[in-house]
Amino acid sequence: MRFSGKTAIVTGGASGIGKATAELLASEGAQVLVWDLQGELPSVDLTDENSIRKALIPVERVDILVYSAGVQTYGTAVSTPDEVWQRTLEVNLNGAFRVCRAVLPKMPPGGAITLVGSVQSVAAVANSCAYVTSKHALLGLTRSIALDYAAAGIRCNCLCPGAIDTPMLRWSASLTPDPEATLAACARVHPLNRLGKADEIARAAAFLSSDDASFITGTAFMADGGAMVPVGGAAFQDSGTAQAGKGNQ
Ligand SMILES: NC(=O)c1ccc[n+]([C@@H]2O[C@H](COP(=O)([O-])OP(=O)(O)OC[C@H]3O[C@@H](n4cnc5c(N)ncnc54)[C@H](O)[C@@H]3O)[C@@H](O)[C@H]2O)c1
Repeated sequence: MRFSGKTAIVTGGASGIGKATAELLASEGAQVLVWDLQGELPSVDLTDENSIRKALIPVERVDILVYSAGVQTYGTAVSTPDEVWQRTLEVNLNGAFRVCRAVLPKMPPGGAITLVGSVQSVAAVANSCAYVTSKHALLGLTRSIALDYAAAGIRCNCLCPGAIDTPMLRWSASLTPDPEATLAACARVHPLNRLGKADEIARAAAFLSSDDASFITGTAFMADGGAMVPVGGAAFQDSGTAQAGKGNQ
């Protein structure tokens, strides 16, 4: 019961990674407030400052914030329409800024913020201009908050998952001609050779939110099945110089 007596806010907590995180924190004793547009108790629109402020009025203290809300969008610098660019930045980045700004004054020493970024916080996937930009910027926000609030005893980390089997990933795959083949390609991106599970990211989020991570702040904390390790990606490992002399082993 690492979180008994603690109050946690989990944004995007009605689905996928956020849902698994909210359930795990609650199972370890936290009082969890789920802020999401959908779900049994649709509560907060993170693109709306008033909605955030209203939800926070009855909350005296916030020990843990996990910002897992996000939208996935596609397009290049030329093909991304204004509306898509703005919506992506609004939910993935500006919402995180707004929630942190509102929550930090209510966060005591020992508090922990985890912003759910992505491997796309530190690298890019093609045709994902707005999403990549939003997730890179989220790492900047993470580092900024980590520095500014270290003296207050508050930590802030950016949790960077690889491809995780959630409604978001299934929706992305559904936009391709062969969704199952796309999911299989996503699995191969990871040296562990499978998709991650929401529960695995939830456990990383719970770790970062806990006192077990008391000396960890400002990090891009990878939970990516090793995806960012291979130079040139998985395809290069299969077909490039990594194959040299393989028959000798
Ligand atoms: N699934 C993956 O492969 C993957 C990989 C890396 C990073 N991520 C990131 O992890 C986070 C969670 O992703 P997921 O896969 O669980 O997605 P998901 O779509 O299952 O859940 C996202 C949740 O955010 C909520 N949300 C969206 N806009 C909102 C708004 N304006 N106000 C309130 N809530 C809003 C949605 O209603 C939804 O419940 C996202 O930030 C995503 O970018 C996901």
